Amino acid sequence: MLLCPTACLRLLLLHRRRWPLLFLGVSLILFFQVSGYLEELFSGILSIFYSTQSYVSPRVLNVPIPPFLLSPASTCSSPPFLLILVSSAPTHRDRRDAIRQTWGGLASATASSSLTLFVLAVPKSPEERAALMHEAVTHRDMIQANFTDSYRNLTLKTITGLTWALEKCRGARYLLKTDDDVFVNTLILTRFLRGESGPQYMGRLHWHVRPDRDPDSRHYVPQKLYDGKYFPPYCSGTGYILSYGAAGLILEQVRSGPWPPLEDVYVGILAQAAGIAPRHIAKIAGSMSVPHSTCCYRTMFTSHGMTPKGMQEAWNMLKEAAEHWCPPLVMFYCKVFGQLVENGEGVH
Ligand SMILES: *[C@@H]1O[C@H](CO)[C@@H](O)[C@H](O)[C@H]1NC(C)=O
Ligand SMILES: *[C@@H]1O[C@H](CO)[C@@H](O)[C@H](O)[C@H]1NC(C)=O
Repeated sequence: MLLCPTACLRLLLLHRRRWPLLFLGVSLILFFQVSGYLEELFSGILSIFYSTQSYVSPRVLNVPIPPFLLSPASTCSSPPFLLILVSSAPTHRDRRDAIRQTWGGLASATASSSLTLFVLAVPKSPEERAALMHEAVTHRDMIQANFTDSYRNLTLKTITGLTWALEKCRGARYLLKTDDDVFVNTLILTRFLRGESGPQYMGRLHWHVRPDRDPDSRHYVPQKLYDGKYFPPYCSGTGYILSYGAAGLILEQVRSGPWPPLEDVYVGILAQAAGIAPRHIAKIAGSMSVPHSTCCYRTMFTSHGMTPKGMQEAWNMLKEAAEHWCPPLVMFYCKVFGQLVENGEGVH
């Protein structure tokens, strides 16, 4: 090891004429690493360790969830290619409206054959409950089940949304679970998905994450809910895609609660039990907020941590982008200058 600096330097000087090649090689590796393509490649290997069964649909699901209070089943009378389930909190009316006016609206839905629905539970205050009912009647895009809306109940919210999709939206080919502070480029996402087949569980992959054993933490997972040293690889809850068949296989693994309070981790655990390997998709940003620029919104499938105003601006950028030129390797820029937004507060 100690000798390497001199030895390596001598080797380098000896092969001076190959420097451009070396430079190119190193830049290529750097690009693939930073942009996430290398991880995409590696995650393909995971499937060797999983044994996937095939899904015979429709099966009778027996998922232990509370009854639905709102169920806009008629929206699926002609099923979309991609059903987007947005996990939302009752008080986030402004975020839902921003999504309705942008990527979750009619223009986007028609262009990409997608359908965007919000998933909520029941707020504690009667005023909030009434406001939510009013909003639901106006927009008919909300799924609600009878349980208390709270952070610790997020897993139940996801399972509720997925169950609804499987039962009431049979013809949908793919499901995207996301949050109300995420921007989604539905057009390029569906274009990508049309080239895929088979059971799929895709997103921003997290490997080798340890359960948080601090009882005061927001992400506390007691031993009795998960006793492993590491979680299995799972896709970030800010945006993951399940093919309809994969969602069915995953829901078949659900047992009665209590469940780990991290919904994305729990889906990863269920996927492992179902034999469905998660796949890393470099263009899904996970917790990252990409730079607020036209080219990043055109290139990436998602961006996290958006304010309602930022969402509107991003949408306007996309609408005006038809003639916009983006440099090659733009994803490198979007990833390097992206900002991590762990939870909640938006940046744009
Ligand atoms: C919802 O659950 C509450 C108790 O948790 C119950 O009192 C109420 O009747 C339920 N509503 C419906 C429509 O099922
Ligand atoms: C989750 O929902 C159930 C059913 O409404 C409720 O009993 C429970 O208190 C909720 N959990 C939290 C942590 O709010």
